[in-house]
Amino acid sequence: TGQTVAVSVAASDDAPIISRHIYGHFAEHLGRCIYDGFYVGEGSSIPNQDGVRLDVVEALKELSIPNLRWPGGCFADTYHWQDGIGPKADRPSMLNIWWGNVREDNSFGTHEFLNMCELLGTEPYLSANVGSGTPQEVADWVKYTTHPADSGPLPELRAKNGRTEPWNVKFWGLGNEAWGCGGNMRPEYYADIYRRYATFMTNWNNGDGLFRIASGASSNDYNWTEVLMKNIPASMIEAIALHHYAVIDWSAKGSAKDFTEAQYFTTMQRALEMEELITKHVAIMDRYDPKKQVDLLVDEWGGWYDVEPGTNGAFLYQQNTMRDALLAGTTLNTFNRHADRVKMANIAQAVNVLQAVILTEGEKMILTPTYHVFRMFKVHHDAKLIPVSFNSPEYSLEDQKLPAVSISASKNAEGMVHFSLTNIDSRKAHQVEIDVAALGLSKVSGEVLTGSKLQDHNTFDEPNKVQPQAFKGTTLKGGKMTLTLPPFSVVVLEAN
Ligand code: AHR
Repeated sequence: TGQTVAVSVAASDDAPIISRHIYGHFAEHLGRCIYDGFYVGEGSSIPNQDGVRLDVVEALKELSIPNLRWPGGCFADTYHWQDGIGPKADRPSMLNIWWGNVREDNSFGTHEFLNMCELLGTEPYLSANVGSGTPQEVADWVKYTTHPADSGPLPELRAKNGRTEPWNVKFWGLGNEAWGCGGNMRPEYYADIYRRYATFMTNWNNGDGLFRIASGASSNDYNWTEVLMKNIPASMIEAIALHHYAVIDWSAKGSAKDFTEAQYFTTMQRALEMEELITKHVAIMDRYDPKKQVDLLVDEWGGWYDVEPGTNGAFLYQQNTMRDALLAGTTLNTFNRHADRVKMANIAQAVNVLQAVILTEGEKMILTPTYHVFRMFKVHHDAKLIPVSFNSPEYSLEDQKLPAVSISASKNAEGMVHFSLTNIDSRKAHQVEIDVAALGLSKVSGEVLTGSKLQDHNTFDEPNKVQPQAFKGTTLKGGKMTLTLPPFSVVVLEAN
């Protein structure tokens, strides 16, 4: 065991609420995310409702997923929503140019997605086509999905296609990665394009308005955020996005499950960069928007490795190990601590793609270590942040060092206090002593996720190898809460 980490808490009335939307997910028409993942079709022998897999629905409901982003990703800027409505036999096919040139038959379209969101009890986040679409197309999508029955030809068409009442669609992305697959635009040009689209993205039907999200920077492209903040008036934008993947090296990403400690270390380094990225992007936003009217949304994040051997290279199917559990835990702690500006995030992606929470194979489904972290952390949804401060011990590998421990804490509406802690140190346990005198706690329980090695993961043959266990080692005495974080572990404590 390394040195004891002394943690102080600062319960404060003006601490922000951790938006549940930080725990959001992402579903793109990519590989086996939609087809085979969420959607198997009405005729499938796999239990489904209107073609949507019920095992996946149940598992995601258990996470209380707050929102789901769709249909991309890069796919979104090639997608024409009108192709995905009406009788399925009449829907045109297209080639999915970004993801393997496979045939997209549009059998999963707007109705299928928005009805699925209702089944999941989650809020849709539609990512609209700006790269190859038109402002008219996007404005029509708003009318088709959100305008009241009998208020014009698009709601009438919606009714003819089986849905009379509008859906509740608040979140709208205007383009995706506009600097890359979304059109290779310069930020100055995109800022103007954004303004044009946002003008017609008003929900003319109610004062409530829509929540418009500008396509944001890639990792440390601070100039992108600067130019957008400078050129888009706060009245036209509700949020700006940021994408950051924890990638070892884009030309040598490495295996998702057979990795060295050095590769693990680099993945953690990339994950921890999120702290610096958010701090610096927020500093730019603060200069233009000191009242924090515009939110920062990290609407794509996660680990990205080589695809599983023998699978389609364009499908981005990868396994998910304890490394990913630590990546998720540290990143979610970072988001929680920045809850005053970070109001939404979407891990990429929910099922069968990149850092998935669920993997499927035929009728089988497994929950990944990342799934378990999201389940353990859901206690933070809409809870009030409790700021914590401490000096982390170091996790060192050769001459490199990283902070070993990350912590965030919150108090929910029922008065329950939660601490989520991660120890990324692969070998050393760390003792943590939290000064909780100000919180008046008398009872504590907890859960831990760890394994026998970093590479541990769940398979279709051994689906429960990695799963949370009760964590009994916490003592609460004299206003101090003391525990020992095992090597490479994620712990969530509940106290009152
Ligand atoms: O999540 C996979 C891809 O990564 C998305 O389509 C794109 O936005 C990003 O580059």
